[in-house]
Amino acid sequence: MYKITMESTSPEDTLKIGKNLATLLHKGDITVLTGELGSGKTKFVEGFLQNYNLQDEISSPTFNIVNEYISDKNNIYHFDVYRLEDSDEFYAIGGEEYFEKGICLIEWGEMISDVLPKEYIHIIILKSPENENLRILKFEVQDNSKYVEILDKLKMNF
Ligand SMILES: Nc1ncnc2c1ncn2[C@@H]1O[C@H](COP(=O)(O)OP(=O)(O)O)[C@@H](O)[C@H]1O
Ligand SMILES: [Mg+2]
Repeated sequence: MYKITMESTSPEDTLKIGKNLATLLHKGDITVLTGELGSGKTKFVEGFLQNYNLQDEISSPTFNIVNEYISDKNNIYHFDVYRLEDSDEFYAIGGEEYFEKGICLIEWGEMISDVLPKEYIHIIILKSPENENLRILKFEVQDNSKYVEILDKLKMNF
């Protein structure tokens, strides 16, 4: 596992990191976001969408599992799979068909890790117990995956 850690001290920091990551990803790339309620998963996706000028359309996919954002550059699919019973339900909604159609950002995606491609970026967001605006963002990818270089660039840009 290859890991980097970044500190976000404000919602704006998290937006910026999300936006920077968007500049480095392409069609077929997958990011999984894990973190308790209010940790900033959706805030991160909002920043990601800023790169495509789609941030104003953001809504939480909690009730419909996946929201689609279409720009002339890319399709972005924002999932929240927390409410899925198991991976079979993900197949039932045709979830894996989205992987090749654009960039997927999957809140709680590790719950369906058996249907995910073996390489993806896993972002774990931790809330600080002392400072209400502080978040630790841990990025984990497989050694030797194409995402190692992307994480190095992400860290350099911040
Ligand atoms: N450093 C930070 N990064 C992201 N969000 C932050 C930060 N500090 C405070 N916040 C606040 O925490 C909340 C995160 O909400 P949200 O992104 O919806 O979380 P989640 O999707 O993980 O439930 C927002 O109200 C945001 O303003
Ligand atoms: Mg959310």
